[in-house]
Amino acid sequence: MKPKELLELIRSRATVRAFEDRPVSRDLLVRLLEAAIRAPSPTNRQPWKFSMVTARDVRTQLVEATHSAIADIRETIAKGPHPDHLADYWGYFVRPMQSATAFVVVSYRQFPDTLAHLVRDAGADPAAFVTCDHWNGEISAASAAIMQLLLQAHAEGLGACWMSGPLLARARICELLRIRPPWRMLGGIALGWPAQAPVPTPRKPQEKVVEWFEDVVPAPGGDEESAG
Ligand SMILES: Cc1cc2nc3c(=O)[nH]c(=O)nc-3n(C[C@H](O)[C@H](O)[C@H](O)COP(=O)(O)O)c2cc1C
Repeated sequence: MKPKELLELIRSRATVRAFEDRPVSRDLLVRLLEAAIRAPSPTNRQPWKFSMVTARDVRTQLVEATHSAIADIRETIAKGPHPDHLADYWGYFVRPMQSATAFVVVSYRQFPDTLAHLVRDAGADPAAFVTCDHWNGEISAASAAIMQLLLQAHAEGLGACWMSGPLLARARICELLRIRPPWRMLGGIALGWPAQAPVPTPRKPQEKVVEWFEDVVPAPGGDEESAG
């Protein structure tokens, strides 16, 4: 693949939130997982785990759990001064799950903070230093794995939606999928064959999000080399 083709693949990816009622094969899901687990991770610890759900009854239970958690928090917020603040936005937390024919729950686990242990063993206070626990390394790695999975899904013609919404029902979902400590649910990915072609969303221009710290490149024909 040429560099520009990869960039084009990345550019054309967009979140898909509505899917056809057509199964995603296990072979295809295995390819997505292969892409996911090639992600980098701190000292290659690969702190991720994937719960792959295609069974309709389990998917239904995941949706119901999320619906129920949304109802609870919505009811609570309704008693406050901003009852309508999220209005139709509630669907954002669950809707993509409803038509997805495959759902992936991604979990991560933290490893012992080696640097903090070494500092403590040396008789010092780890709180005086920035040690591994402050780096969010495991979350970063699991997020990188999700991103690779999303790109592979897109390359395969699948649609996908990375979702935090189901985290509202984290306890119930972890129970259903037997996700137990030290594992923690990071999020979900709704997957399926897109009901409509993905439409890329706008991005802030680079000038707004990038700051360069670069070497001054000598102007062609300039006298940079002889200077100083
Ligand atoms: C951590 C994370 C959580 C997200 N949670 C949801 C969600 O719960 N529901 C949803 O519909 N989209 C969710 N999204 C998708 C974003 O809304 C989407 O990526 C963003 O609007 C940019 O659009 P694009 O993915 O099409 O480029 C989430 C994305 C990320 C990275």
